[in-house]
Amino acid sequence: MDAISVIRTKRDRGRLTDEQIDWVVGAYTRGEVADEQMSALAMAILLNGMDRDEIARWTAAMIASGERMDFTALPRPTADKHSTGGIGDKITLPLAPLVAACGAAVPQLSGRGLGHTGGTLDKLESVPGWRASLSNDEMMATLRDVGAVICAPGTGLAPADRKLYALRDVTGTVESIPLIASSIMSKKIAEGTGALVLDVKAGSGAFMKDVGRARELAATMVGLGNDHGLRTVALLTDMSTPLGLTAGNALEVRESLEVLAGGGPADVVELTLALAAEMLTAAGLPDADPAKALRDGSAMDVWRRMIAAQGGDPAAPLPTARETHPVPAPTTGVLTRLDAYAVGLAAWRLGAGRARKEDPVQAAAGVELHAKPGQPVQAGQPLLTLHTDTPERIPEALAALESSYDIAPPGTTLDRTPLILDRLD
Ligand code: URA
Repeated sequence: MDAISVIRTKRDRGRLTDEQIDWVVGAYTRGEVADEQMSALAMAILLNGMDRDEIARWTAAMIASGERMDFTALPRPTADKHSTGGIGDKITLPLAPLVAACGAAVPQLSGRGLGHTGGTLDKLESVPGWRASLSNDEMMATLRDVGAVICAPGTGLAPADRKLYALRDVTGTVESIPLIASSIMSKKIAEGTGALVLDVKAGSGAFMKDVGRARELAATMVGLGNDHGLRTVALLTDMSTPLGLTAGNALEVRESLEVLAGGGPADVVELTLALAAEMLTAAGLPDADPAKALRDGSAMDVWRRMIAAQGGDPAAPLPTARETHPVPAPTTGVLTRLDAYAVGLAAWRLGAGRARKEDPVQAAAGVELHAKPGQPVQAGQPLLTLHTDTPERIPEALAALESSYDIAPPGTTLDRTPLILDRLD
């Protein structure tokens, strides 16, 4: 077998055989296929696609490139969730302790942000002392003692994906449904969770801007999970406007704590409860009551123990930015649009995100919203507040926010897009 014949097959719109897929994924992981060859193949896949059987085999080959974790010795059923990423998407933070408080174990392997989307690990690192890397034994012990863990995936899990994702990131080959689906699902299947709920986002702040493509991605991932014996459900959710009232690391932790304390913005609470209900049902606990676990403080209690188990101080004050800058509403009326991508870009430029993998992020940087679409705004009152330790970046953030919102005359009513657009299983 050789790389050139595999590339030619896909370049000429052919079907890759099982042998070709197993060989190329394995050989690339071992360093026997060069990055330039794999990037040519990834581009051919992006342009010409893969059918369901090819995607399934590609996923299986990525799983086989590394170790598989096994949580069957735990006394509780396991459930995990994956979001395809968006602006202000802090849902994992309240969700993992909430689901654990309701009786499931949540082995949540999470990532860092890149570009305009935030990452769960960056958000949690704004909690003083908290560390993202755990050994497999530490992860297991925390799951047993606390019930929830949010950490970085170990290097042994789907190493083919780690290499290939880094290559796709710099070769314009991220936005391929077969490659995204196999990347996400290989990690989740190798992780060994018993149930998986996917939050597939559609809209300006998402990878998939278009609902039809997001639905296709969701259906592909649900098919892959269920074919591998992993109970998988997907919610298709709106990402045309940010989730909640904050985008940024410490800002989002603060908002998550409000949710865990029984308050918080309505959309964050709605999605947290909907995903919790799906995870608990998929884990075989359909009678659990996640709303009660938010009200009675049991989810907050798991949060504190989860943070402390990873070296964090749940009582320590969260960092605040050196400088804040209000963005006033230019007119009085009703906010009818606030674009997720623009807010994400502004938060990124203020220092909440990174341009390259190795860049540091500012814990306190980000954007605070004072109104959501459908709500009234007053001329001269803040519509947004920018937070940063590097005020010289404020003009760039303001440029990102130009034309990012619309205000209609007072009294206008808005036909709001539902937050949860569809459910696939
Ligand atoms: N997240 C992943 O893990 N992989 C992708 O390809 C895209 C998003």
